[in-house]
Amino acid sequence: MSQTAAIPHGLPVERDAGPFDPPRLLTRLRETRPVSPLVFPDGHEGWIVTGYEVVRQLMADTRFSSRQDIGVIHDAIEIPGMPTVTEPSPQVPGLFVAMDPPDHTRLRRKLTGAFTVKRMKQLEEHIVDIAEQQLDEMARLAPPVDLVKEFALPVPSLVICAMLGVPYADRESFQANSANFLNTDLSLDEKIAAYTELTTYLGELVTRKRATPGEDLLSDLALDSDLTIEELTGIAFLLLLAGHETTANMLALGTFALLEHPEQLAELRANPELLPGAVEELLRYLSIADNFYRYATEDIELGGETIGEGSTVVVSLLAANRDPRRFDNPDTLDIHRKARGHLSFGHGIHQCLGQQLARIEMRAGFAGLLRRFPTLKLALPADEVKLRTNMRIYGVHALPVTWAEAEAE
Ligand code: HEM
Repeated sequence: MSQTAAIPHGLPVERDAGPFDPPRLLTRLRETRPVSPLVFPDGHEGWIVTGYEVVRQLMADTRFSSRQDIGVIHDAIEIPGMPTVTEPSPQVPGLFVAMDPPDHTRLRRKLTGAFTVKRMKQLEEHIVDIAEQQLDEMARLAPPVDLVKEFALPVPSLVICAMLGVPYADRESFQANSANFLNTDLSLDEKIAAYTELTTYLGELVTRKRATPGEDLLSDLALDSDLTIEELTGIAFLLLLAGHETTANMLALGTFALLEHPEQLAELRANPELLPGAVEELLRYLSIADNFYRYATEDIELGGETIGEGSTVVVSLLAANRDPRRFDNPDTLDIHRKARGHLSFGHGIHQCLGQQLARIEMRAGFAGLLRRFPTLKLALPADEVKLRTNMRIYGVHALPVTWAEAEAE
């Protein structure tokens, strides 16, 4: 048995095996002990779970409470990137990703109707239009341009704004506050300031919608007298943040990964019907949302280990998605692979509510981008691309790209 993994400066986030691959320590832990004891920087002991089967099992087991899921809020009020408490954190109204049943069930149920496959299909045309308009605007610019700024961030931001009824004109402030909130380099005060500014803004917005509802999801929710303004604000915060930060990073990092795999990119351009499968594979391969947290409400056996009641457990979706016991040659990007079954949207009762929306955005986004920019390439050496190792959602800070101007219509 290997020893307890002591991780002195936060979870392993440095990409020492390459921009798309898990940090080496994660791979080593998965190979030697997929359920590993872990000592956090403050000295308290917990666990890190890295194997596919054990991660899946854990996420399906509600004895592992999500009230420790500091993925969103807790980071901002505790040590960045690290849980410090050994008991469930207080609930934040509306933030159901960090709640357990029955509170989680009550709130999630109010949203499932708005995110069904059928409802998302109805939005598809609108999403394709948004992606195409953004590509029109990008084509008018003289390259090089930053793909994050001109394409990857605007598309999901426009989509989630339209869905929620958040004015897109306010994007600069909500994008900056979301980014600051997720930035593990910032001080606690700076993160709290970003969180407070964003929730104050959203609190005023949902209050206005309750008084004068429009035709959007937040207005529909505001009409439900069972929900308090604080709950509406928490829901709006969760949806706005999850709605733009995640997909934006998939579009940008996904483009980077495809540009670094030119044969697969060429194949995808020649056969766009391969795109849905390629999107699943990119989700698996990149696993941009990693390191979720759970809290053991009792002693629980997992993968031959006993996780003691009160332990904080870190769940690595990235390590799980690269487990050779589940996926052959897991570190190879293979757009022909049957990647469904990956854990990039989580598993169990908290499985991503926006996954169909994200899939449609990615299909529309990649399809348009590849078609419209057949000569797209990086405008700097790949090893100079700035990676988001300091952010709760992985990706690239910017992706300078260029193309042969005559070819982009
Ligand atoms: C939950 C990933 C896009 C809304 C989750 C979880 C993951 C995830 C891993 C599970 C968290 C946990 O178990 O603690 C992703 C990825 C996305 C994406 C990789 C993009 C590629 C979106 C979008 C929305 C969204 C576009 C839209 C609004 C949510 C919500 C939850 C969630 C509300 C909480 C669900 C619950 O607790 O029941 N997401 N997500 N996500 N996601 Fe996403």
